[in-house]
Amino acid sequence: MKTVLKNAHLVLPEETKHGDLLIEDGLIATIGGSIDAPGAEEIDCSDKWVLPGVIDAHVHFRSPGYEYKEDWETGSKAALAGGVTTVFDMPNTKPQTTTAETLKSKRALARKGSLVNFGLFLGATGENIDVINEAEGIVGVKVYMGQTTGQEIADPDEALDTMLRDLFERTHRVIAVHAEDETQIRKHMKTYKGEEFPEIHSLIRNDSVAYTAARRAVHIAKKYSGRLHICHLSTKKEVALLAKYTDDNITAEVAPHHLFFTVSDYAQRGTLLKMNPPLRSHADVDALWEALIDGSIPMIATDHAPHLKKEKLRGYWDAPAGVPGVEMVLPLLLDSVHEKMLDIHQVVSLLCEGPARVYGVKNKGRLREGYDADLAVVDMDMMRTVHNERVMSKCGWTPYDGMDVRGWPIMTFVGGRLMMENGSIVSGHNGREVELV
Ligand code: DOR
Ligand code: ZN
Ligand code: ZN
Repeated sequence: MKTVLKNAHLVLPEETKHGDLLIEDGLIATIGGSIDAPGAEEIDCSDKWVLPGVIDAHVHFRSPGYEYKEDWETGSKAALAGGVTTVFDMPNTKPQTTTAETLKSKRALARKGSLVNFGLFLGATGENIDVINEAEGIVGVKVYMGQTTGQEIADPDEALDTMLRDLFERTHRVIAVHAEDETQIRKHMKTYKGEEFPEIHSLIRNDSVAYTAARRAVHIAKKYSGRLHICHLSTKKEVALLAKYTDDNITAEVAPHHLFFTVSDYAQRGTLLKMNPPLRSHADVDALWEALIDGSIPMIATDHAPHLKKEKLRGYWDAPAGVPGVEMVLPLLLDSVHEKMLDIHQVVSLLCEGPARVYGVKNKGRLREGYDADLAVVDMDMMRTVHNERVMSKCGWTPYDGMDVRGWPIMTFVGGRLMMENGSIVSGHNGREVELV
């Protein structure tokens, strides 16, 4: 099967080429020039930009166990709508993905339900290091240092150091951590007991909560030469911490909600914006942008954490933490190109090449001949107001509701197959589990 994307702006890592791109047997066969491939389907992409499909290395697709919030089909359709062609799913499902059996059954669910490519994390329990080392095909190991959705933490201090040490010492896998200090969180919760303002979330889980845990993980990783990845980095303090370690063994990601909102947005959106780690100050947001622009943070991942709107509106203490994001991250970053925050190559670097490099994903993340034809075709000039009603995610809402965004994906290809066109899902073909280099 052959397809030619005609007359496009082809976004390569260092340059943009103008011309055609040939897809053959699911791979990118030829990039650039005028391609005449007999028998190929031609798609006119005049004035459109062709990017590698986004790799979202941090999603919660909720299956098994919380399918009323999201499942592999709805989550992956949301991904396609947003130009995302690969997702990595977190283990805080029900049951948690922490054993060989639960990994196997989640893999079966993803294979059956996912329209995009996927990778799976295993959760660390402190007792499953052998499972971790024996598991085939996982993208990494997830460690929750602080309590969050679906994660109760019995004894925050003693067990944690031992677990981290063991992981860094005994496995070569990427150890992705949710870095928040549980002891401080518990103390601050007592302080703010009885208060109801959503703003207290950013005080209970303040920058010291994140920094303390991140520093602890970094120190143990360094000591035992481990491979640490810090999820959803959100503070200026953590950026400064990371700046001291420029090697590839310590990496981090930023979530879009920490780039596009600050604590002042609680006033309008309330508990809808409750997430862990929480919203931060303008100074923190500026530091995150700077680190992404100068390349010291290599990637963005959404932490797509769908909860129903009615759950989110329960009041501060009962509202679950987390916001959806898989559908919006590419449009938001394309808009930031118009705002002159990033250029298009930086967008591709942060959403495609960065995650592929950090996790060692094979054959993905850039437009290169022989790589998988996972592609997003974008209309940089399309202007659209975001509406909850248009959201594909089962949760049915987005924190970006009402925002005007310029730059949208209009086609998404997975493995050379057109899956999304103008917001509609046009194929039911399933994605595949990623391979690692
Ligand atoms: O806000 C969050 N929501 N942070 C997490 O770490 C988990 C996530 C979820 O699964 O809902
Ligand atoms: Zn997390
Ligand atoms: Zn998460």
